[in-house]
Order: sequence, then C-alpha cells, then structure tokens
Amino acid sequence: MEVIIRPTTEQAVNLTARLIADAIKAKPDFKLGLATGATMEAVYADLVKMNKAGEVDFSRVITFNLDEYIGLPPEDPNSYRYYMNHNLFDHINIDKRNTHLPNGMADDETAEGERYESAIRDCGGIDLQLLGIGSDGHIGFNEPISSLASRTRAKALTPATYVQNSIYFNPPESMPKRAFTMGVGTILNSKRIVMLITGAKKAGIAAKAIEGPVTSMVTGSAIQLHPNVVVVLDQAAAAGLTQTEYYNWVFANEPEWAQYR
Ligand code: PGA
Repeated sequence: MEVIIRPTTEQAVNLTARLIADAIKAKPDFKLGLATGATMEAVYADLVKMNKAGEVDFSRVITFNLDEYIGLPPEDPNSYRYYMNHNLFDHINIDKRNTHLPNGMADDETAEGERYESAIRDCGGIDLQLLGIGSDGHIGFNEPISSLASRTRAKALTPATYVQNSIYFNPPESMPKRAFTMGVGTILNSKRIVMLITGAKKAGIAAKAIEGPVTSMVTGSAIQLHPNVVVVLDQAAAAGLTQTEYYNWVFANEPEWAQYR
C-alpha cells in the first residue's frame, strides 16, 4: 500500500483524477470501477474537465459501480445511476451501454448479484477500482461484519450509513435501508485500488482502515490484503495516521510519483 497525503482537498482530488486519467491513457479499453458519495463529486468534475480538454478519452472505457440502492429506479434523483449520469456520464464521451450498476429494481436479488459478478468477469475484471470510505468504515456498502470474501449481493445498511446518507433524501425516512453492493471479495479481485479520503470527519476511520488491524468490523481495512493499493488523503483526513513521515518520504522519493509531485 502507498499512502499519499496532499495539503488540500483539491490537490488530493486532482491527484486521484490524474491517476485514473493516466491509467485510461495507457489502456483505452479500460475497465474502471466507480464509487459514489460526496467525496467523488469533485473527482468526476476533474475527469469531465480533462475529457473536455481532450486529455482523456472514455469512448472505449467500461465502468462498473460499486453499489445501488434497492427499490430506487434509475430516474430517481437519489439512485446511484442518476448520480453517475448527472456527475459524470452525461458530460463525457462514454457509451452509456458500457456503464454498469446493479439494478436496484431487480426482483430476484440472488440472480442480480450473480448477473453483476458475471458481467465483471466476462469483461476480464476491473483494472482499477475507485473507493471512498464510509463513516462506519464501509467500502461499497459492505457494512461492519461483512465477510471479507463476500461477492455482489443485497445488504442491509447500518444506522450510521442511514445517518450519513439520509440527508440527501426528502423526506430523510424515504432512504432505502438496503442496497446491492459488490462484495469485499469482488473489490479485492480488481487489479488496482485507489482510495480517496478527505475531510477531518474521516480521520479516525482512515487511520483504522490504513494502519489498524484487518477486520470485517472496518471493511475498508481489507485493502491491506490487496497487492496494489494507493490511498490518497488530504491533510485533514490524514490527521490520525502515525507513519506520516514515512508516507511523505515515499511520495517525495519514489520515481513513480515524480510526475504527481
Ligand atoms: P461520502 O461517502 O463520500 O459521501 O463520505 C463515502 C462512502 O460512504 O463510501
């Protein structure tokens, strides 16, 4: 794992977007795993800018989102399909037929999980999975005590997630209490993981995920099991880390980071 701490949120966001854009440039038929949430909005705004400036081409990119609320149709403004169209897909040269999310309206939940897993497998797996982290440590909607071997499935959300996300719903109680999510095992199968964590509110959970024990109580800690992970944080989110000096040393000295410094 490599941990990159940038002084501002904007710099952390921009570095994350550049990592994604550079990976797509190197492999135009890239399979990109995407995340939603407030943190990612700025990353998508940067990618839109880069696409409009001709710096990154999405025409052959295939995307898979981590999760979708159960019971929300794509046109619901709180669905993650809507979020993705609104924040990214409507503004870049991607073929929407190449953009995948679980179907929140699927009748057969088990079949939907299996369908999603097959779709990922059939296109050769995810090259890079973008991740945020929830206040309860979740990646995707893999809430505490989710199996670290889990695959895409329906999952009950925690009260903490409900508090974090129901502010976007009107009324707040209309937020679904369940979602489809890639499993931790699905996420760990991606070839590379880039996790972005910003803001002082995430400092405690960031330290647990990066430096704490690997535990299903913080599914974000499962990234420690993956051989190719970069975690990008702003200064505020990095406040609880103990090895900051080492992380900064690596970023300042490793040749692979020269172009991002
Ligand atoms: P946030 O969500 O970016 O809105 O904090 C992250 C998450 O829950 O994974």
